[in-house]
Amino acid sequence: MNKRIVSGMRSTGKLHLGHYLGVIQNWVKLQHEYESFFFVADWHALTTKYDKTENLKNDVVDVVADWLSCGIDPDKSTIYVQSLVPEIAELNIYLSMVTPQNWVERDPTLKDMAKILHSKEGTNSQISYGLMGYPVLMSADIMMFNSSFVPVGMDQVAHIEITRDIARRFNNIYKCEFFNEPKPILNHCSLICGLDGNKMGKSYGNDIKISDTAEVTAKKVMSAITDRSRMRKDDPGHPEDCQVAFKYWEIFGTEEEVATVKCECEKGLRGCADCKRQLGAKINEKLADIREKRAYYEAHPEEVHRIIKEGSAKARVEAQKVIKEVRNLVNMY
Ligand code: TRP
Ligand code: SF4
Repeated sequence: MNKRIVSGMRSTGKLHLGHYLGVIQNWVKLQHEYESFFFVADWHALTTKYDKTENLKNDVVDVVADWLSCGIDPDKSTIYVQSLVPEIAELNIYLSMVTPQNWVERDPTLKDMAKILHSKEGTNSQISYGLMGYPVLMSADIMMFNSSFVPVGMDQVAHIEITRDIARRFNNIYKCEFFNEPKPILNHCSLICGLDGNKMGKSYGNDIKISDTAEVTAKKVMSAITDRSRMRKDDPGHPEDCQVAFKYWEIFGTEEEVATVKCECEKGLRGCADCKRQLGAKINEKLADIREKRAYYEAHPEEVHRIIKEGSAKARVEAQKVIKEVRNLVNMY
């Protein structure tokens, strides 16, 4: 049997091209090589949004619809929702007992999240007990399926390290070799930045969504920053200083197209507006199939619900095998 991978995303609502190029594309490839479990981390979403839950259900559906449109295949991968597999919560309890407090306090990702929380909600905002437990819950996600690998972005590597530490500690304490020490699978693709040159993110308003229409995409691309030193369209341009539009060309264009853009830009034969109009068309061409599927799932949410329910039931069967063994190892009644 193939080795297992597990990976998840918080339910943040409609996903953008950063998610697609940075994570989902990688999952789509990996699902052919590994027994794959992909889940929506709705409990993790609660760690920071516990008081704003009105869109939580819809957000889950949007995330899964985006995955399906991008090519995550429910016949190949198990697609599920974290909170529909309550065994994860039980495992989280056992793992939280063996995790020293200072391991979670050291978590750099958590420190960043705390900073963001402070800046949004004022300095007297408190980090909840649940948010403190973020890395332990994440370890439970991964160890629930005793997976060997976890495909993630660089920003999550510290969490995989904690998972390995927790797995080792559990095995030591209960004198077993039950849990694997999972390794990250890093995605080496170049990161796509937002339209303003900063990191692409929902909250920065600089993203292109997987579910955006061609018209919206074309319009957003027109707002991308270019070589700011250019005043007139026949000024010679500097593609290397064109932090967004030219970068997007490099991601979506063929080698030949990129060479043409570069050459014409440098010679002042290409105006930025025309260049971005072409770029928008190029991106839309690349995403056409995904968009078509996305529109289908938008119109058929019942199908997304069915896939979530079936996948979660399948995940539970596997989770129950593991939790039974864990209860035995810990000597629970
Ligand atoms: N923390 C991850 C993120 O913010 C999401 C996540 C939760 C995850 N549990 C996981 C990723 C388990 C991989 C494996 O992106
Ligand atoms: Fe960038 Fe294209 Fe303008 Fe050159 S012509 S600066 S590549 S947008």
